[in-house]
Amino acid sequence: MKSSNILQKYLRPMFILSLCLLQSCIDKSRTNIHDNTLKIRKSFNWEVPANTRLPYTPDNNPVTEAKFQLGRHLFYDKRLSINESISCSSCHKQSLAFTDGLERSVGLNNEHHTRNAQPLINSAYFSTFTWSNNLLTSLESQISVPLFGDNPILEHGWTAQSFEDVFIPFLQSDSTYQSLLASAFPNQNKTTQQTVIYALASFIRGINAFNSPFDQFENGVSDALTDSQKRGYLLFTNDERFECFHCHSGKLFSDSYRDANMKIFDTPFHNTGLYNLSPQGDYPAESNGLIDVTGRSSDRAKFRTPTLRNIEVTAPYMHDGSIATLEEVIDFYAAGGRNLTSGRYKGDGRQNPQKSQFVKGFSISQQEKEDLINFLKSLTDQSALTNERFSDPWLKE
Ligand code: HEC
Ligand code: HEC
Repeated sequence: MKSSNILQKYLRPMFILSLCLLQSCIDKSRTNIHDNTLKIRKSFNWEVPANTRLPYTPDNNPVTEAKFQLGRHLFYDKRLSINESISCSSCHKQSLAFTDGLERSVGLNNEHHTRNAQPLINSAYFSTFTWSNNLLTSLESQISVPLFGDNPILEHGWTAQSFEDVFIPFLQSDSTYQSLLASAFPNQNKTTQQTVIYALASFIRGINAFNSPFDQFENGVSDALTDSQKRGYLLFTNDERFECFHCHSGKLFSDSYRDANMKIFDTPFHNTGLYNLSPQGDYPAESNGLIDVTGRSSDRAKFRTPTLRNIEVTAPYMHDGSIATLEEVIDFYAAGGRNLTSGRYKGDGRQNPQKSQFVKGFSISQQEKEDLINFLKSLTDQSALTNERFSDPWLKE
């Protein structure tokens, strides 16, 4: 039997099974979508294939094409920052899967963010948003952070008052926005903060892509992956040494996952041993993970598992961009954490007391490393990086 046939015969059911275990088998069938989302599916261009569930959407903000288009215009508009210098797209660039290529983003006053900008493709499927915050369980709640947040830095720089006094009147007087608003919110005569947030959330929710070579292979195109990628796929999902799949699981390659059919969802966070600055296992104070939100000692330096989709174009890696290449990421996991022997953050992350038991180190040959990286590269969906639907609408106007 050829290796691709072996993969298709054994691996796919296993992939589905482990997904099922992780999500407690809420719905036993993955191919048969017997749900109430059929109408919603037809009413909007989700860019989600028929055999894949839709992302979770709150009842009070159903996605429509008009809201998506209003959100798209806002996302690419620098006038959405207090001094007209920054748009969402300054830090979220389509060609980089909506990341910015920096270790840590740069905000309104050239201040460095404490975190690496996250990709926005398929991000509506996460169960929590940002690198480590269990309270942000909807895009609607996340989006006020860049608009109004001042901790740690200013992104768009608004206060509720300045937004009301400056941005809302601008929206209402601009002819492009007047017509976009009228189509998106036909029954609403007042434009508010919430109008802007709902539209931006609808745009992000509509940015989906499931057509990478990996997806094509999953859908039966056996030559969509190279032989090296097929070997890497087996290593990633099925080799007990690596444990990648324990956390990078399911459709998103993340155990943080929620879709339109799920009533119960998990909000997992992990410590992978990047730093170890105290006997308790602290990371640098500016970004110490979930404990910053919950205050619980057991949440120290825990972060949400990032998606591995489009990982090839979202370097540098980790919540603070502190690992430059995929090769170094594999070396980091092979070592079972990061031992920094000098500098400000000197400490042996391998010994971090909060480190997940699944990051325990392993031996890997050069060939296996190449295969694993080549597999990760098969998760890039090139079409999403240029899809006009997600692109800057102002260029054409
Ligand atoms: C200054 C750069 C910057 C700007 C401007 C910016 N972002 Fe972000 N974005 C980030 C960073 C950094 C993160 C990670 C934040 C964290 O973990 O605290 C992020 C995270 C996100 C997330 C969470 C994604 C996920 O997977 O959980 C969403 C959604 C998002 N941004 C949307 C937006 C929108 C919409 C705008 C415009 C209103 C915007 N961003 C403006 C840098 C930026
Ligand atoms: C215990 C759960 C867990 C395991 C096991 C695990 N990861 Fe991760 N992975 C994470 C978390 C959490 C992060 C983010 C950590 C941070 O930024 O502090 C991450 C980050 C990454 C990143 C960087 C992503 C980005 O957007 O910056 C890559 C690539 C990656 N992991 C690949 C792998 C591979 C390959 C394996 C197997 C060798 C693996 N992971 C095993 C949880 C895990």
